[in-house]
Amino acid sequence: MTTTKEPLLKVKGLKQHFQINNNFTVKAVDGVDFVIYPGETYGLVGESGSGKSTIGRSLIRLYDPTAGEIEFDHMDISGKMNRETKDRLRTEMQMIFQDPMACLNPRKKVGEIIAQGLDIHHLYQNRTERAEKVAKMLEKVGLAPEHADRYPHQFSGGQRQRVGIARALIMNPKLVIADECISALDVSIQAQVVNLMKDLQVETGTTYLFIAHDLSMVKYISDRIGVLHLGHLVETGTTDEIFENPVHPYTQSLLSAIPRPNPQLERQRVAKGYDYKAEGVDYTKGVRHHLGGEHFVLATPEELERWTANQK
Ligand SMILES: Nc1ncnc2c1ncn2[C@@H]1O[C@H](COP(=O)(O)OP(=O)(O)OP(=O)(O)O)[C@@H](O)[C@H]1O
Ligand SMILES: [Mg+2]
Repeated sequence: MTTTKEPLLKVKGLKQHFQINNNFTVKAVDGVDFVIYPGETYGLVGESGSGKSTIGRSLIRLYDPTAGEIEFDHMDISGKMNRETKDRLRTEMQMIFQDPMACLNPRKKVGEIIAQGLDIHHLYQNRTERAEKVAKMLEKVGLAPEHADRYPHQFSGGQRQRVGIARALIMNPKLVIADECISALDVSIQAQVVNLMKDLQVETGTTYLFIAHDLSMVKYISDRIGVLHLGHLVETGTTDEIFENPVHPYTQSLLSAIPRPNPQLERQRVAKGYDYKAEGVDYTKGVRHHLGGEHFVLATPEELERWTANQK
């Protein structure tokens, strides 16, 4: 990955608020800045309710952003979009969801499900070309051509997720948003699906926004990571910067919760607590500080001093 490239996605000051009633608004995403470079995998982590899915859904415009700018491949996709921009967004950005059973139409054969995007956007000349594209895609994700005639319930969880990947990648997207796409699978199958995604990325050069709870999987797949808490990106950096030198106490607490494979190290592991209220942290007061390299942390000057005091 090189950072001299132009980003594929630029997000600036993105807010996504949901008004519940007259006096209550959920600030699910409350001003986040990040970029994703072409060909890289950006891991988005954070506890349940931190706003990960909301960011994914805002990017692909399932919501109208409350505020902020989103630029995707030099197109402004944050405001009202014209027909051409919408069309490009619907083809060039694709999403893979957590629960394939919930998003694959149970009455449709898998071949039809995979070809849906091609059908909508008229991306083939004739039936033969359509069938060839589907067969080729099935093969790429490790399924067989005859699987096209089966229904989603005839597949295992791992196979269904392969169908979800095929459905996204057949569009030849520039960006794939994978929202907890392996969390529902058995651990042994998770590794297979992640490796498949990695292989397909090498082959196609596509870019991933990989959303997950599981930090060990994120560490394995990501080039860079954003740590999200309460709708704010509290720390961003390369995978090494985040794992080797976490500065924000929230990142530290997330990392300290990962069990270590080595029993001796696991015995020494101390889970670090983090209570932002007790620590008096107010994310709206912090600004992004550059720590070097690709590493940024959200902090007030006083917090920054405190958090970096014991380092180096
Ligand atoms: N459509 C909506 N209307 C109202 N509130 C919402 C809506 N979508 C999300 N929220 C709220 O916004 C916050 C962030 O939710 P989100 O689903 O983005 O979190 P998440 O990080 O994806 O969590 P998880 O890890 O559990 O998937 C939560 O408090 C959630 O209840
Ligand atoms: Mg989510």
